[in-house]
Amino acid sequence: MRMVDIIEKKREGGELTTEEIKFFIEGYTKGSIPDYQASALAMAIYFQDMTDRERADLTMAMVHSGETIDLSAIDGVKVDKHSTGGVGDTTTLVLAPMVASLGVPVAKMSGRGLGHTGGTIDKLESVKGFHVELTKEQFIDFVNNSKVAVMGQTGNLTPADKKLYALRDVTGTVNSIPLIASSIMSKKIAAGADAIVLDVKTGAGAFMKTEEDSEKLAHAMVKIGNNVGRKTMAIISDMSQPLGFAIGNALEVKEAIDTLRGEGPEDLTELVLTLGSQMVVLGKKAKTLEEAREKLLEAIKNGKALEKFKEFLKNQGGDPSVVDNPEKLPQAKYKIPVPAKESGYVSNMVADQIGIAAMLLGAGRATKEDKIDLAVGIVLNKKVGDKAEKGESLMTIYSDREDVEDVKAKIYENITISSHAEKPVLIHKIITE
Ligand code: URA
Ligand code: CA
Repeated sequence: MRMVDIIEKKREGGELTTEEIKFFIEGYTKGSIPDYQASALAMAIYFQDMTDRERADLTMAMVHSGETIDLSAIDGVKVDKHSTGGVGDTTTLVLAPMVASLGVPVAKMSGRGLGHTGGTIDKLESVKGFHVELTKEQFIDFVNNSKVAVMGQTGNLTPADKKLYALRDVTGTVNSIPLIASSIMSKKIAAGADAIVLDVKTGAGAFMKTEEDSEKLAHAMVKIGNNVGRKTMAIISDMSQPLGFAIGNALEVKEAIDTLRGEGPEDLTELVLTLGSQMVVLGKKAKTLEEAREKLLEAIKNGKALEKFKEFLKNQGGDPSVVDNPEKLPQAKYKIPVPAKESGYVSNMVADQIGIAAMLLGAGRATKEDKIDLAVGIVLNKKVGDKAEKGESLMTIYSDREDVEDVKAKIYENITISSHAEKPVLIHKIITE
């Protein structure tokens, strides 16, 4: 087989065989196929697209390019959740204990934050003592006994994706549905998921800015999952403004605790119930999404979800007393309001830019090496659609430095007050096919 023939075939709109796709991924991973040929093929795929069969084959070839995690020692259907990334996205912290409290095993591999999006591990580390350095045996024991554990990324998973993603980044081929969908799905499958729930974000803070593109991506991923024997569902949810109120590590842990108590922000609560229902159905602990939602609401009401969160923190070395005493979480030195300059309705709050404002405070990393400040961040006092009087606080800045004029300027640039405004739709679509 010759790589040049594969490139030409795709360039002309042909359908690659399973063997051709394997040849490319194997050769590219081990270095016998050079970057320039891989770039040419990525560009051909960008313009010519791939069939459903090719997409499934590409995904599985990438899965097999490296190690895979074997979760077969864990009882039950292992359901993983993936979000395409957003600002103030506190969902995993709430979802994991909530669905675990209904007996669905959550064996989660998570990462750290970069840029305007946060990472689950950073957030959890704001609980004193909590760590994700578990042996594989500990990880499996915790999931079997407590139904939930979070581990840092380990092993050499999907090296083909790592190499190809880096190449796409510099060759103008990131934004291709078959390439994005296979990249995301290969990582979830290599991490051992039996079933997958996808939260595809749409809007300013999201990877996919338009609803049309988000929907295409969601359909592509659901199809790949189901074609390779992993039951997959997706939702498309709003990321035009930050999710919930809190953006920042300790602040989001507090928000997660409130939500597990049934006292969380309306949008975050609705999102975790929607995603959680899919996880519970895929985990076979309910027959319908409606039944699953009832059970989840019950777990919040009877305190089981919150108890599960405490158990999870304790298992991984964290201090569970923060749940009842959130003031034990890292606290910022200064709380600085951002007053409205005029009266009206909040009509826009650009999610990614507000995320960058939180990053300026030290809540996120600009580069992988940056250290983050767990205490700092932003809490929204108003959401899009809310009325604001001149002088009323739109947001509160939680900071360890007194001078936050740069952060304030960034916030004012990215929030609009108008004479009228509508609340954005949160759940755009539910895809279960
Ligand atoms: N996220 C991924 O993991 N892969 C892509 O290709 C794009 C976004
Ligand atoms: Ca939040």
